[in-house]
Amino acid sequence: MDRIFLSPPHMSGKEQAYIAEVFESNYIAPLGAFVNRFEEEVKTYTATQHALALSSATAGLHLALRVLGIGQGDIVLASSFTFIGSVSAILYQNATPLFVDSDESWNLSPTLLKEAIATAPIKPKALILTHLYGQLSKLDEIVAICREEGIYLIEDAAESLGASYEGRQSGTIGDMGVYSFNGNKILTTSGGGMLISDNEAWIERAKFLSTQAKEPHLHYEHKEFGYNYRMSNVLAAVGVAQMEVLTQRVQQRREVFEHYQRALSGYEEITFMPELPQSRGNRWLTTLTFDRCDPAKVIAALSEANIESRPLWKPMHLQPLFADAMVVADGTSQRLFAQGICLPSGSAMGLEDVTRVCDVIQGVL
Ligand SMILES: Cc1ncc(COP(=O)(O)O)c(C=O)c1O
Repeated sequence: MDRIFLSPPHMSGKEQAYIAEVFESNYIAPLGAFVNRFEEEVKTYTATQHALALSSATAGLHLALRVLGIGQGDIVLASSFTFIGSVSAILYQNATPLFVDSDESWNLSPTLLKEAIATAPIKPKALILTHLYGQLSKLDEIVAICREEGIYLIEDAAESLGASYEGRQSGTIGDMGVYSFNGNKILTTSGGGMLISDNEAWIERAKFLSTQAKEPHLHYEHKEFGYNYRMSNVLAAVGVAQMEVLTQRVQQRREVFEHYQRALSGYEEITFMPELPQSRGNRWLTTLTFDRCDPAKVIAALSEANIESRPLWKPMHLQPLFADAMVVADGTSQRLFAQGICLPSGSAMGLEDVTRVCDVIQGVL
């Protein structure tokens, strides 16, 4: 039986033609027409004013913190239930993370966010909010808290490109947002990211820092240090081809989720990640928890059947790296980690593949 992967790349078919155009123009080096075009496509799709194509979403989050002047001695709030890439930039900037647990949405809890702000030793400067597995957080409440407290909101929309909240695209609702185009995301450029904002000055500053902070001289002149974080024109060509099918990819991932939901609807011990009523997730990954069954058994049985699956993210406050970090937690993400798994969710998955996965799960249950 062929292996079923968790979230493999799904090409539109135009990628190689666009890469050929790059080679014909010989703009192989970073920057070129496709980088601009990719940024324009993302701006148009998400209705955002400014976008910067980068080597990764991690780079985008790093630039966001640097642009906001966050550094040593500053506290940055962050979702604890997430991937390390959401929060590495806090460490790059020598700032201090304050992790906040999830609620029944599986995403960050506004109640615990308030508690974290109230009990923090100094006022936090920013919040990095992850929209996990492509599902939106409680943005109304979280935005209101951040505005009231004067805390910058950075949306980690690495997993949620194409998802929306009250009709607005994920990543565009806070002060800045990032998307990831790494190999397992809903769209991929093999590796890449994008920083977006309606604030032109921030994106211009991020652009300057992402290209080695070169002063505007003919020779190379530097007053401060920057990074080599821009996306190459070759990869941007892949991104442009992928953007053409984003709407379709969201629909396909949602259909994969619906197949799973239908096939496993008879099992009371299964709970799928919820979708907030005012949102439309991209269902990047279909995720679920088991009440009475050890998820390790399900993962092992799937692996035996040549099917890839994974536990849910291990919360940051449980990582050895953050053993001494500040956290406001009530056990929600710890429980989700202990009970949940991610199922194969690629947009090219057919109904037969979903059925194959469900047969194995049903066998274990
Ligand atoms: C929630 C989240 N944040 C950040 C990242 C980092 O993205 P990148 O690999 O593009 O740096 C990822 C994925 O890798 C992610 O899933």
